[in-house]
Amino acid sequence: MRASSFALSLILATSGILPTLAAVCSTTTPATEQQQSVAFKAFADIFLVQKNIQKAFDDYIPDTYINHNPTAQSGRANAINALKPFWSGISITPAAVFSGGGFGLLHYRVKMSGTDMAVMDRYRLNGTCIVEHWDVNQSITGREANPIAFF
Ligand SMILES: *[C@@H]1O[C@H](CO)[C@@H](O)[C@H](O)[C@H]1NC(C)=O
Ligand SMILES: *[C@@H]1O[C@H](CO)[C@@H](O)[C@H](O)[C@H]1NC(C)=O
Repeated sequence: MRASSFALSLILATSGILPTLAAVCSTTTPATEQQQSVAFKAFADIFLVQKNIQKAFDDYIPDTYINHNPTAQSGRANAINALKPFWSGISITPAAVFSGGGFGLLHYRVKMSGTDMAVMDRYRLNGTCIVEHWDVNQSITGREANPIAFF
């Protein structure tokens, strides 16, 4: 890309006219399972530990993101808009992060005002990018019959 059109793309992207592309990952370069694992662990750290929604999505999730969460719509921007307002302020305790066979899985506890949940996110990878998402949540009441409930 010529420098001038690159600069223009940057201006359009930062002004919100053009959607930004996933900057770090690639769907056009085939990735080994090991490369996908490195990418998924990096995403998990930004998402669950740094709790930086914008960076997690900028680096690893392209615009074509397909989302099966029943309260969401597909697309990168929809997920960012839904999560960004509250994500950095919640308490997250990761329980498991792993990938294989072209998929990645996160299992973690989320606490915020009025909510205590066990969450699993399943992601499909393409190259080193995250392109599709499914999730389930379970409410934690503190009165579970099982002493090893959830984790
Ligand atoms: C991965 O993404 C590329 C586009 O970058 C697409 O051509 C290809 O079909 C995708 N592969 C899978 C398995 O989704
Ligand atoms: C948990 O999942 C259910 C079913 O999709 C949803 O109605 C509920 O809002 C979710 N809870 C939270 C706190 O996201």
